Amino acid sequence: MSYRQIVDKVNSVGVIDWDRRLFDELIPLPGGTSYNSYLITGSKASALIDTVEKDFADDLLRNLEELGVDSLDYVIANHAEQDHSGSLPEVLRAFPETEIITSVKGKNMLTDLLNIKSKRISTVEEGREISLGDKTLKFLETPWVHWPETMVTYLEEDEVLFSCDFFGSHLATSDLFVRDEAEVYRAAKRYYAQIMMPFRRIISKNLDKIKEIQPAIIAPSHGPVYQDPEFILEAYEEWVNGPVKPEVVVPYISMHGSTEELVDYFVDRLIQNDIRVKPFNLREVELGQLAMALVDAAAVVIGSPTVLTGPHPQVSYAATLANALRPKTKFASIIGSCGWGGNLVDDILGSLNKLEVEVFDPVLSKGRGDEGNFAEVDRLVEDINKALADL
Ligand code: FEO
Repeated sequence: MSYRQIVDKVNSVGVIDWDRRLFDELIPLPGGTSYNSYLITGSKASALIDTVEKDFADDLLRNLEELGVDSLDYVIANHAEQDHSGSLPEVLRAFPETEIITSVKGKNMLTDLLNIKSKRISTVEEGREISLGDKTLKFLETPWVHWPETMVTYLEEDEVLFSCDFFGSHLATSDLFVRDEAEVYRAAKRYYAQIMMPFRRIISKNLDKIKEIQPAIIAPSHGPVYQDPEFILEAYEEWVNGPVKPEVVVPYISMHGSTEELVDYFVDRLIQNDIRVKPFNLREVELGQLAMALVDAAAVVIGSPTVLTGPHPQVSYAATLANALRPKTKFASIIGSCGWGGNLVDDILGSLNKLEVEVFDPVLSKGRGDEGNFAEVDRLVEDINKALADL
């Protein structure tokens, strides 16, 4: 893919990764992704904003060559993670005079992760500016979007914010700018759920900082560029600071049908009470879908049989994931079954220890649920109904 213009003398020179389906060997990417890199050509100096995954270094260098770049003054490393920094060594080799600009923490990370010599790296702190002649870059510290060293770069004259992971979306698309808002909203929400949600509180402060700037354009390092930043700023406001929605997420799995029977009854009763519910059978669910559902839901109820005294391993995985993602969820409970006994409830609740939730009494059956167990499900539905009504 070749370069494309964002505004005058600012070009997108990154790559689209149409085929990638997993990030960090963990995060599903059903829509592929892109590694956006931007070249700013000032009247006196030039700067490359972030690079691309190492495997695509040649594509990045080819784009620069097509633009006629034969010297490069700065590479701005907003974030040290390798999908943005991986090609730095190749860029430094191609342009021996280039200086890397990054945050103080970023410098340590780049030397650790990529063995880049520290003499090639200069650091900037909050509010520092660099002049490229007729264009000025201002650096703002935005920790934890997505690592502790992350910063963003603001091109003052053109009011373009280069936000790296912040506001990004894992979406391979030929659209340079957002064209299909519904598609980008879904991809950006998935991205937020999987990558940003654990840092929600500090992201709220970073979001305020970005709103103060009022950028005309937000150019992230994944997914399309926002010519209408309000679209993504409002979405982040809703995801980060908005109230939970009266929805119940039900990740579950069943071995011999006992748990499933109770979960099915629970889901039906919620529907009868006009409560929005999203069941996810963990036998085949794509965990990105579950993560997205957790962004807004007020309650999560986990369904599991007992395996070797504890939860089914698929449930343990989902609970660990939910705990790590730290959603806004306010209420939780468990619907489970066992053959003879075990520590199902304590084990699951132990896995959810970072969530600030009120836990409703669980429902546990021995084998297939009896009348008393189904009555307990009715009670749980009532508990949830009351709690959601008070939101
Ligand atoms: Fe796109 Fe945290 O890297």
